[in-house]
Amino acid sequence: DREEPRYVIGVSQCSDDEWRTQMNKEIRREALFYPGVEIRIRSARDDNRQQIADIESFIRQEVDLIVVAPNEADAITPVVEKAYDKGIPVVLVDRKIDSERYTAYIGADNYEMGRQIGTYIASRLRGEGNIVELTGLKGSTPARDRHHGLIDALSDFPDIHIVATADAGWLKQSAETAFDSILVKQPQINLVFAHNDPMASGACEAARGRGRDKDMLFVGVDALSGEGLGVESVADGTLDATFIYPTGGDRVVQVAMDILEKRSFPRETLLSTALVNRQNARIMQMQTLHISTLDAKIEKLNGQLDAFLSRYSAQRMFLYACIVI
Ligand code: FRU
Repeated sequence: DREEPRYVIGVSQCSDDEWRTQMNKEIRREALFYPGVEIRIRSARDDNRQQIADIESFIRQEVDLIVVAPNEADAITPVVEKAYDKGIPVVLVDRKIDSERYTAYIGADNYEMGRQIGTYIASRLRGEGNIVELTGLKGSTPARDRHHGLIDALSDFPDIHIVATADAGWLKQSAETAFDSILVKQPQINLVFAHNDPMASGACEAARGRGRDKDMLFVGVDALSGEGLGVESVADGTLDATFIYPTGGDRVVQVAMDILEKRSFPRETLLSTALVNRQNARIMQMQTLHISTLDAKIEKLNGQLDAFLSRYSAQRMFLYACIVI
């Protein structure tokens, strides 16, 4: 019989994909270091109404803290404010809301990322060419911010033209469909910037379908390691480059615990990005492989510790019973 948890943390994810899966794993693993912390994770699968219901349910369960990655800022703002006004600390991760009523934010500066990507694109194209931009869900703040950063960086390069833009909602399949119709209308495309790697590879597949994938470069964001994901696609030349978008699940739990245990904490934790291109993709693959073996060891050790502790408490009960009898 388990003891009551000291703290319950509700995590409301907007989507269900590799990037989220990785963040959720990091959250659970980091929580192992804080005894008595229970993590409850829900995914809204890109649906605002589902996410509102998920957060409402965390409020009813009287969880101690809510972590939210808001699907779209407008739609999710009121329910986040509701939780916050009830005194439940809210930690926003990766996406923001249209209000200052939240406790802390952890994630990258997406505007700054957009600028860095714009600067990279300009140098890669030597200051001229036609670009297509495939954005994430328009109502989500990373899509908004990455777009504005890109536009501001490119404003210094009058010979670079954004010939088409489409909202592909962060999804590979939508990007493939959207980019296929763009290909029909645009005879000359030099580079595609997709707001994430799944959309970049969707666009690449559409171009391949029309025999045009070698005519243009594909740039994405996320840089996850693993089969068929961003870093591998850069290593094998499918993508020209991608930019690291850190998942930072461990930091999320650390800040959450600082809040719960009344220690001081940063209101904004900005995680940094870096360019992954052909030159460093292999190194990055090797490093992440090494890290994941270490992660597996941490989980194994933790399992052994659990087994040890339950054996120890059973023995203690037995001893106690002997003494009483
Ligand atoms: C994962 C994801 C990432 C993207 C981020 C933006 O759900 O779509 O691919 O970088 O969300 O919030």
